[in-house]
Amino acid sequence: MKHQETIKKMTLEEKAAFLSGKGEWQTWDFPRLGIPSMYCSDGPHGIRKQAGAGDHLGLNPSLPATCFPTAATMANSWDPQLGSEIGKALGEEAAVQGVHVVLGPGLNIKRSPLCGRNFEYFSEDPYLAGKMAAGYVQGIQSQGVYACPKHFAVNSQELRRMAMNAVLDERTLREIYLTGFEIAVKEGGAGAIMTSYNQVNGTYANENEHLLKDILRGEWGYNGIVITDWGGSNDHIRGVAAGSDLEMPTPGMDSARQLVEAVQTGKISEETVDACVDRMLEAVLTLTGGQKKTAEFDEEAHHALARRAAAESAVLLKNQEKILPLKPGTRVALIGDFAFEPRYQGAGSSMVNATKLDKMSELIKEYNLNVVGMAKGYMRSGEINEVMEKEAVDLAQSADVVLYCFGLDELSESEGIDRTHMRIPQNQVTLLEAIARVNENIVGILSAGAAVEMPWHTNLRALLHVYLYGQAGAGAVLDILTGKVNPSGRLSETCPIRYEDTPAFRYFPAAERNSEYREGLYVGYRYYDTAKVRVLYPFGFGLSYTEFAYSDLKADRDGVEFTVKNTGKMDGAEVAQLYVGLPDAKVFRPEKELKGFRKIFLKAGESRQVRIPFDDKTFRYWNVRTSRWETEGGVYTVMIGASCLDIRLRAEVTVEGTTETYPYYTNRMPSYYSGLISQVEDKEFEELLGHPVPSGKWSGNLTVNDAICQMYYAKSPIARFAYNKLTQMKKKSEEAGKPDLNILFIYNMPFRAIAKMTGGMVSMEMVEGIVTMVNGHFFRGLGRVIGGFFRNQSRNRKYVKRITEK
Ligand code: BGC
Repeated sequence: MKHQETIKKMTLEEKAAFLSGKGEWQTWDFPRLGIPSMYCSDGPHGIRKQAGAGDHLGLNPSLPATCFPTAATMANSWDPQLGSEIGKALGEEAAVQGVHVVLGPGLNIKRSPLCGRNFEYFSEDPYLAGKMAAGYVQGIQSQGVYACPKHFAVNSQELRRMAMNAVLDERTLREIYLTGFEIAVKEGGAGAIMTSYNQVNGTYANENEHLLKDILRGEWGYNGIVITDWGGSNDHIRGVAAGSDLEMPTPGMDSARQLVEAVQTGKISEETVDACVDRMLEAVLTLTGGQKKTAEFDEEAHHALARRAAAESAVLLKNQEKILPLKPGTRVALIGDFAFEPRYQGAGSSMVNATKLDKMSELIKEYNLNVVGMAKGYMRSGEINEVMEKEAVDLAQSADVVLYCFGLDELSESEGIDRTHMRIPQNQVTLLEAIARVNENIVGILSAGAAVEMPWHTNLRALLHVYLYGQAGAGAVLDILTGKVNPSGRLSETCPIRYEDTPAFRYFPAAERNSEYREGLYVGYRYYDTAKVRVLYPFGFGLSYTEFAYSDLKADRDGVEFTVKNTGKMDGAEVAQLYVGLPDAKVFRPEKELKGFRKIFLKAGESRQVRIPFDDKTFRYWNVRTSRWETEGGVYTVMIGASCLDIRLRAEVTVEGTTETYPYYTNRMPSYYSGLISQVEDKEFEELLGHPVPSGKWSGNLTVNDAICQMYYAKSPIARFAYNKLTQMKKKSEEAGKPDLNILFIYNMPFRAIAKMTGGMVSMEMVEGIVTMVNGHFFRGLGRVIGGFFRNQSRNRKYVKRITEK
């Protein structure tokens, strides 16, 4: 142990306190030992340090910081180097604000387009997600601040996110849900990692020894700290035993007391506690000692970076008759509420208080365009407003080109709630159709943090998907529309035609406790491609104002080499993608998988030789029988494409196998061998899992681990009344057009989280009392709550006195 000397001087109570939060964002400090507090702050695309009272849902304002495009947007840049530049800027801002750990990036896999937090995650592909995340991590950490990739792992649903269990097979876990984290840890060198709220195969991620001990620390050699998600600790003792170092945010002294008692009764050894303390000391002392002391950051430079990032990430999906770039002096009408009030970031813990906010309605004057007028056109709330619609349609009539800004509003996607469909608000579609009747030259500028259905796309000549483009995105869009910037974003997720076409359609979200990942490996393009399901815009797709030609593919043992030429008239960047497939594989696998990519900037007429090396992930698969990464021997097809459906070059590579032990019986798994996984029966899923499908039904009494929204099962009429009241409040806030994150959080959190987030007001004993009341034993429960309250207060006071007065 590195900090043996300090550890020797610490009392058991000090050690235990050190492993859980002192406040919403900081750890306990021990001045007598020279141990200061470590300060954490969200979030993935901007620093959210709250000036006043801390709450983790962004309810109280935070200090101004640059709001960069969200992860879903940035992944479309396919440029980890750019991710690293943003990371560096985030690190700088964190250092200025005294933040030691930036709680991001978020890199959960977009299993379903409906996950409410998809805007905060990079991709449906683990390789792309991992490479982007590694870029961010390196950038953040270059400033003496830790990054904290999150949420480890298999956290692809918001509904009851703290009380659900992801049921999946080991191979899918490894290949799809962990590979991105592996890259962020091994290549990014992350100093911290955040566990997710959910269970993975029956054990909470935060106390999951398989995830934390075997894989993270064992196989990947990770020696940084593991932090719980806020309120995500279930059993602190089990967490510490699994090597989770810090429980956040504020369990008071309850968790610390439990830990002390566990050591004293031999439930856990002091050495195990010391191992966590050692890692925490390493983090705290490194971070508080080594941070660069800068007084301020260059707001203008960061704004400019945010603008460049948005420009590199916007994806041009359609450009009929080359309507874009707009000719100088084009008579344009700017229509849509988003042109005036951009939709530029998502709601929840990632919400940044931007240093400034560019708007298309203001910036458009700076461009060589003849703006005939501007109109909001639709109500953001989704309500129909005929007066606004008429004004917009009249305006559209007088313009050569309509710039229509539209997409998902704030209520449609947020942390804490999954979307229930993939549509954009109908009033925006109605307006688009009305405009299309009077003007056929419509350029759509779509803002949405996730894939949406686009049955309306035929009304558009051009479509630029800008995702959630951050505080400086408006200028980036205008730069692209006018040709100052050549678009180079490529989709980091598929745009399916209909929600019903998506692989997890029947399995998402978990109806009761269990979320069954029956689709297995077939997430995103891996499914559409293998099962031959038509999509609207494929993974990796995006247009440019120029064209690129590919030639001369050579493949050797270590990689591929080919030439890309810009054959058009404009400078621009191409994203060359390497996919690998194994025809007639013995071990089922998707048709092709992304195994490398390179973004290349080429002047008009320029050509360049590009090399993409193979790596340890190019040919591997997880073998559930040998419990190792193996390679199936055979002749692989290596493909170079401009999207997963636009393969330009192919070559073959013969690779030797590493085992003759094959994991599956082909005839028992027809769905997985064909990729037709939309309706996998129990028997076949069990074959994949290697065990029976566990029951996820709620039965009997509610427990401390059940979500508060499960109180509809409550025996106590008072609890059911409380449930109805909460549901009403939730509905009301939804109707008001703005999600109430507090209510959403409470709704989906388990009872136990009350003890973890109330700064010592509530102990686990009191939570058990509350649950007893909910289960119909009102007075017995009340007794425990009241008695527990006084016991907890007095014990907390004494504990704090002992560790602060030493
Ligand atoms: C989110 C995390 C976030 C934390 C602190 C949680 O609700 O899941 O992503 O970092 O809050 O705000």
